[in-house]
Amino acid sequence: MNNKEINPGAAPAGIVGLGLMGCSITTCLLMAGHPVVAVAPIPADVDTAEPRVREHLKKCFEEGLTDREPDYWLAHLTITEDYGALRECKLVIECTLEDQAIKKAVYEKIEAVVPEDTIIASNTSAIPISLLQRGAKVPSRFLGLHWAEPSHTTRFLEIICGDSSDVQKAEWLYEFSHVWGKEPTLVRKDIRGFITNRLMYAMYREAFSLVENGYATVEDVDRACRNNAGYWMTLVGIFRWMDLTGVPAYHTVMKDLFPTLNNQTTVPKLIDDIVKAGGKGVQNAKGFYSYTPEEAKLWKETFEAFSYEIRRLALKYPADVVKKKLAAADKPKKDI
Ligand SMILES: NC(=O)c1ccc[n+]([C@@H]2O[C@H](COP(=O)([O-])OP(=O)(O)OC[C@H]3O[C@@H](n4cnc5c(N)ncnc54)[C@H](O)[C@@H]3O)[C@@H](O)[C@H]2O)c1
Repeated sequence: MNNKEINPGAAPAGIVGLGLMGCSITTCLLMAGHPVVAVAPIPADVDTAEPRVREHLKKCFEEGLTDREPDYWLAHLTITEDYGALRECKLVIECTLEDQAIKKAVYEKIEAVVPEDTIIASNTSAIPISLLQRGAKVPSRFLGLHWAEPSHTTRFLEIICGDSSDVQKAEWLYEFSHVWGKEPTLVRKDIRGFITNRLMYAMYREAFSLVENGYATVEDVDRACRNNAGYWMTLVGIFRWMDLTGVPAYHTVMKDLFPTLNNQTTVPKLIDDIVKAGGKGVQNAKGFYSYTPEEAKLWKETFEAFSYEIRRLALKYPADVVKKKLAAADKPKKDI
């Protein structure tokens, strides 16, 4: 149970962009004890953001993530169209559309009002930070801060340095983000897609290749993925998994399998056709599967319920779970 409270004297955290992720990041920061100034870059956000954040906070209260009701947290949230409200912030997180020109225009407005030592971070999924920080007034204070949706339940966070970023600022954020309930990853050198998207997209590419070449259906690929990697990935990552299951076997398989893996550099036809026909997935009930509106709604609700449940399980297995067990048993530390 989070029994944190807001420190009203603390500098507020700033958010710019109040769509899906901006609202869940706002929820996470409030419950971590920060007053939050949230800037709506488009007027439509002003009406939708507060109910969205309220709904997240209500769910968090019901699920036991906080012992305080939404009104307590919301009293420390300012939603405004005025960038000037960010002037006291030591950290501003940009969360606007995945569009370089839009993001750069937003940075100009942020830099015009915040002090020189304020960290400006982008939640970009894949635009290199080195490109985003180019042309900024103070490029060294720009970092990537890549969250996973829904940010108030997930422990994922990537902190990414661009070519001109101050690594010390990234290290500071890395340490600090534990307060937000994260198990962060520090990406010291910029690379497109950072770590997680490079791993995931390698898997997506192979998944398309298997389906498009008739080896398996979408359903079968999904089932294999859920019941293999989906079974252990909340406990361990790829390298620990190989340690757990025997390293030499992987060495043997790699020699013969790697040359056969897909290395296509264009967007697969299967996804291209869906997107060109307007398919968005469960959002409009048109994706790789077809949904009735009722099924699409139920998938959204099921995903939300699952995200709270997997969080409860994940909290039992932090990255240092074995060290903790040893410390609890008061055994001497070995090379773990
Ligand atoms: N959705 C995810 O799961 C996810 C995960 C990680 C990172 N991201 C990244 O987070 C960022 C936001 O994604 P999202 O899913 O919240 O998107 P979204 O579509 O829900 O929200 C986009 C927001 O961008 C802002 N915006 C729209 N047009 C604008 C304009 N012309 N000028 C300035 N601001 C404008 C608005 O605040 C809008 O609410 C993107 O960079 C995305 O790649 C998303």
